[in-house]
Amino acid sequence: MATLFVLWYLLAASFGFTFAADCPASRLHISEPPYDNYFLSDCITSAHVIVTSPDANTNNSNSKPRLLVAWPAGNSGATAYFEAENNGTLGLQLQNSTADGQILDTVNQPAATGAKNQNPRVGVKGLVHFDTPALLTLPILGSIRSIRDYSEGGGILSPDVQNAVVTETFGDNGGQFSRTWFDGETTTWIDFTPTSGVEAVQIITGDKWMLRFGTGTYEFRATFNYPQLVQLSPSEVLNNASQALVRESADLTKSLSFLSYSNKLLAGSWRFLTYFGRDSMLSALLMQDILSQGEGGALEAVIGAVIERINKTDGTVCHEENLGDYAAFLARQDGIDSSAPSCDYKMIDTDFLFPILMNNYFVNTDVGKDRAALFFSRKATFLEENAGTAYSTLAERTAERIMSITAPFVSSQVASNLLHLKDGQTVGNWRDSGTGLGGGRIPYDVNTALVPAGLRAIASLSQAGYFSDHPDWADTAAKYAQVWEDETLQFFEVSVSSSEAKQLVQQYVSDAALAGPSNTDQISGNITFYGLALGTDDKPVRVMNTDDCFRHFLLNTTNQAQLSAFLEQTADHILQNFPVGLKTDVGLFVANPAYADSRSLQDQFKNSDYHGTVVWSWQLAMMAAGLGRQLARCNCTSAPDFCGQKLRSKVGNAYEVLWETINENRAQLSGEVWSWQYNNGYQPVPLSAFSTTESDIIQLWSLTFLAVHQQDV
Ligand SMILES: *[C@@H]1O[C@H](CO)[C@@H](O)[C@H](O)[C@H]1NC(C)=O
Ligand SMILES: *[C@@H]1O[C@H](CO)[C@@H](O)[C@H](O)[C@H]1NC(C)=O
Ligand SMILES: *[C@@H]1O[C@H](CO)[C@@H](O)[C@H](O)[C@H]1NC(C)=O
Ligand SMILES: *[C@@H]1O[C@H](CO)[C@@H](O)[C@H](O)[C@H]1NC(C)=O
Ligand SMILES: *[C@@H]1O[C@H](CO)[C@@H](O)[C@H](O)[C@H]1NC(C)=O
Ligand SMILES: *[C@@H]1O[C@H](CO)[C@@H](O)[C@H](O)[C@H]1NC(C)=O
Ligand SMILES: *[C@@H]1O[C@H](CO)[C@@H](O)[C@H](O)[C@H]1NC(C)=O
Ligand SMILES: *[C@@H]1O[C@H](CO)[C@@H](O)[C@H](O)[C@H]1NC(C)=O
Repeated sequence: MATLFVLWYLLAASFGFTFAADCPASRLHISEPPYDNYFLSDCITSAHVIVTSPDANTNNSNSKPRLLVAWPAGNSGATAYFEAENNGTLGLQLQNSTADGQILDTVNQPAATGAKNQNPRVGVKGLVHFDTPALLTLPILGSIRSIRDYSEGGGILSPDVQNAVVTETFGDNGGQFSRTWFDGETTTWIDFTPTSGVEAVQIITGDKWMLRFGTGTYEFRATFNYPQLVQLSPSEVLNNASQALVRESADLTKSLSFLSYSNKLLAGSWRFLTYFGRDSMLSALLMQDILSQGEGGALEAVIGAVIERINKTDGTVCHEENLGDYAAFLARQDGIDSSAPSCDYKMIDTDFLFPILMNNYFVNTDVGKDRAALFFSRKATFLEENAGTAYSTLAERTAERIMSITAPFVSSQVASNLLHLKDGQTVGNWRDSGTGLGGGRIPYDVNTALVPAGLRAIASLSQAGYFSDHPDWADTAAKYAQVWEDETLQFFEVSVSSSEAKQLVQQYVSDAALAGPSNTDQISGNITFYGLALGTDDKPVRVMNTDDCFRHFLLNTTNQAQLSAFLEQTADHILQNFPVGLKTDVGLFVANPAYADSRSLQDQFKNSDYHGTVVWSWQLAMMAAGLGRQLARCNCTSAPDFCGQKLRSKVGNAYEVLWETINENRAQLSGEVWSWQYNNGYQPVPLSAFSTTESDIIQLWSLTFLAVHQQDV
């Protein structure tokens, strides 16, 4: 029996059999004009292919004719920008294969015998149709980061990357571009072959080399020879109780699976197709009820990825990893020849999410409790500098960091002891575009919610026996948490009298030339909110926002007067329509600058700004989950005061209204962020219509509605 098995295994291995039956291809198509998105995963590779075919309504740089292939492995990709040969409009689209009727199929070629790189060459192939003669004017091959630098960095191209592109004929009448990565071993190829009756691909030499295509259909293949990740299937990402979702929400669970691998979950596609600490942990927190537990499950993939990437010296949790060709590109800038992965540690919010998730899983679930000893005895392998360090040591570093940076405020509750962005950084929390905090340096979400919730988690972990070098933390961290919970909100509070509020809103409507109603009739008393951040003068940045959701979701605070007032203003912002509050037909805007004290501040929050008057799906999810949790407290024996007051029904109403707007926007929910136009009501529009920032069509934390549902309240 044993011998037979071994023989069979060796045979299978030596012939490179793939067990297709165990690993059927998973396909998904999502259209968001001018983008057509196709996903293909099997056990050979995972790929996201996007075809951009511009229409009359879109004319920014992202809506140029483009074929983009994104691979989770190495956060890598291949992009081809096209133009019409005759300077007119070029339409392109993918066509179904004549062989199997599919849009995309896998390519899987073994490495040449004796080649230095023994990884198979894998990728996707398909048929692309041009409706007029076309030129492929720009290939970008290698890292997704290089492609992003070009598409949203105002056309940045690195000569080191571009000069390594080789243009060659392919077969009898095709053409190809290829580029060997900085590692000298990995290559990305994109090749084109005419289908029958169509003109040969022509190579046009010159300053920049181009490929020319006639009108008609060409087969393309985009391939690379880099180690692939082990994807978790839809069924593997979900726990036993949630298996029905694989059928009931097939597209969403396929999207979730596309972003889920055995050693990490990825933030989104195509732009953020790699580890991001904040994205993966917030998603895991929101989806904890449905994600698989135990060894090989999604929750341990998230937590393990975080621990592997902790800065061993100071305990900071990694924001974004750099790997593959981009890691080598960055190292070269420091004169180092290495492809070793590295991390970006600039964020200040991510550290706190880690103990919260660690506590939720390893203390609060049975499987987690059983797994803890084995899990934390593992040794890190991903970053060279962490190699061999036990997971327990790395986790303790982060907790030490948190205890140390939160101590000064406990001694003295002054603004200068609140946590601020790192020196030299303009970003540090989820609103991480240049103007996302309106110039503020002390973020609201971090100081009022993430810090106290992180401290509560450390107290609980300590009580459960973690961090044995610091047995006092069970008490100390709880004491710290109480101070941060009770004493931080007041720094961020903005209260505007009703007459001033009416005037400010009218002025904003006129300055911003808003087509919609001012809704000032909805102002019946003071408008109160908590500013996005504190500015350099320690005064709140006067931008209303959705970040209240962090406190609602992560903390059950106990100062009753403060809790009631806090819930009341959140409810008001949901019940009041923009630009008085946050609510619109397309969802809650994550920012409302109507009460800002300057035009220049308002101008940083437009509907073309990544963190402006736009809607983020996961903020809706966290607000819904957070209000749900607060309302659920009314069912507890020691219910908070608000439960016995009129306020309870106001919060309940806000919860219902929030769910109405969520349900009306189901079509957008799995995307990252969306903008709007006003035409007799707010209508959803892709952010890319107004901005060079394209939104990801699938985003990990936007899939959290798989787990977040409306409750009876
Ligand atoms: C297209 O670009 C032109 C020039 O930049 C601009 O005037 C026009 O409004 C744009 N059209 C659309 C639909 O955005
Ligand atoms: C297209 O534009 C280029 C540069 O602007 C010009 O050299 C070329 O003659 C134009 N071709 C046609 C067919 O108009
Ligand atoms: C491709 O096939 C799908 C179903 O397999 C079909 O719905 C679609 O219309 C086909 N597309 C084209 C361009 O033929
Ligand atoms: C989940 O299902 C698998 C297979 O049916 C079973 O082996 C496992 O024990 C179940 N896990 C839990 C936590 O119920
Ligand atoms: C880790 O933290 C130490 C101490 O703050 C710092 O010197 C080092 O540069 C950090 N490592 C990385 C890779 O950023
Ligand atoms: C209303 O706002 C005004 C102006 O900011 C402030 O002085 C007053 O205290 C506020 N009243 C209440 C009840 O919050
Ligand atoms: C409170 O309990 C009732 C009865 O069990 C339940 O229907 C309701 O959903 C609970 N409310 C919340 C907010 O959990
Ligand atoms: C707060 O209370 C709610 C309702 O009991 C509960 O679901 C939630 O997990 C609690 N949150 C925290 C951080 O303990």
